[in-house]
Amino acid sequence: MRERQSSTTAEIVCSWRALEASLPARHRILHDPYAKGFLGGVRARAVGAWERMPSRARLAAAGALDRALAGTYSFVMARHRAIDDRLRAFEGQQVVLLGAGYDSRRARLRDALADKRVFEVDHPATAASKAERSPVAFAGAPLAAAEEVQVDFVRESFADVLRARGLEPGLPTAWVWEGVSMYLPEAEVLSCLQRIAELSGPGSWVMFDALCDAGGLEGVTTRVASAFLRFVGEPFLWTPSPAQLSELVVRAGLDVYEQCPAADLVGRYQPARARRGMFDCGMCLVEARTRS
Ligand SMILES: C[S@@+](CC[C@H](N)C(=O)[O-])C[C@H]1O[C@@H](n2cnc3c(N)ncnc32)[C@H](O)[C@@H]1O
Repeated sequence: MRERQSSTTAEIVCSWRALEASLPARHRILHDPYAKGFLGGVRARAVGAWERMPSRARLAAAGALDRALAGTYSFVMARHRAIDDRLRAFEGQQVVLLGAGYDSRRARLRDALADKRVFEVDHPATAASKAERSPVAFAGAPLAAAEEVQVDFVRESFADVLRARGLEPGLPTAWVWEGVSMYLPEAEVLSCLQRIAELSGPGSWVMFDALCDAGGLEGVTTRVASAFLRFVGEPFLWTPSPAQLSELVVRAGLDVYEQCPAADLVGRYQPARARRGMFDCGMCLVEARTRS
C-alpha cells in the first residue's frame, strides 16, 4: 500500500457490500446497511444509480459483475458472512479485526461483540479515512466499543502495538484478516500468522482468505484487475497454490481447520449463484486454529 493513500480495495469491497444490500432479501448473501454511508464520489453515485434500478435489473447487474470477476464478488460477500457467523458463535474474550477497512461489524455485530475486547487494526491512511467517514456511515447507530489501532503490517510489528494497547497474550482470541494476505509479500504473511499464533491462547482462531490459484491470473479479466490494482498501489503479491497455503499455515504454528474454495463457500449461502459455475477466481477462505 502507498504510505499516505487509504486503501482503494477497501472502498471497492465496501461498495460491493452496498450493492448487495440493495438486492431482495432472499437473493442476498449478506446485509450490510451501513456500507453505503462509507462511500464518496463516483462510488456513492454508482450505488445510488443502482438502487434506482428495478430489482430484476439489480439482480442481473450483480450477476454480470460476478461473471466479469470470475465469482470474486460473491466470494467477497460469502467470506464476510462466514466470518460474521463465526464471530457470533465465538465465546472467547478478545477479537482482533486486522485490516478492517470499512467493515461495520461494530454496529452489525454489536450484541455479539459487546462483552469482548475488540481491536480494530488498519493501515494509518485507511484507519484515518474510516474515522472521518464513520459519523456519516453509522449515523448515530450504537457501536460495540473498540480500540482503534493504526499499524502498517510491513513496517511495524502489530504484535508489539497490540500488546501496548492492552491485548492480553494467551487468551482465547478471534482474529479476522480478511482481504489482506494477497497484498503482502509471502514473508509478511508468514510473519503475521506467526505473531497471531504466538499471541493466541487455546481456543483461538484466525479466518483469512487467499488468492490461491495463480493459474487464474492468466485470464483476461484477472489480468485487467491485476493491472488496475498495480495502478492504485495495491498489487497482488502473494498467490500460493492450495498446498503452499496450508503448508505456510502449519509453518506459522497453526492448524488448518478448513480451507474452503470460493464456489463451496458461496454455495453455502446462495446455491443458485454457485451453480453458475464461474468460480475460477481462485479465492479461498481459511480457518486456522491454535494447536492444543
Ligand atoms: C481489500 S481491503 C479489505 C478490508 C476489509 N477487511 C474488508 O473485507 O472490507 C484490504 C485492507 O488491508 C489493509 N492493508 C493492506 N496492506 C496493509 C498494510 N501493509 N498494513 C496494514 N493494513 C494493510 C488496507 O488498509 C485495507 O483495509
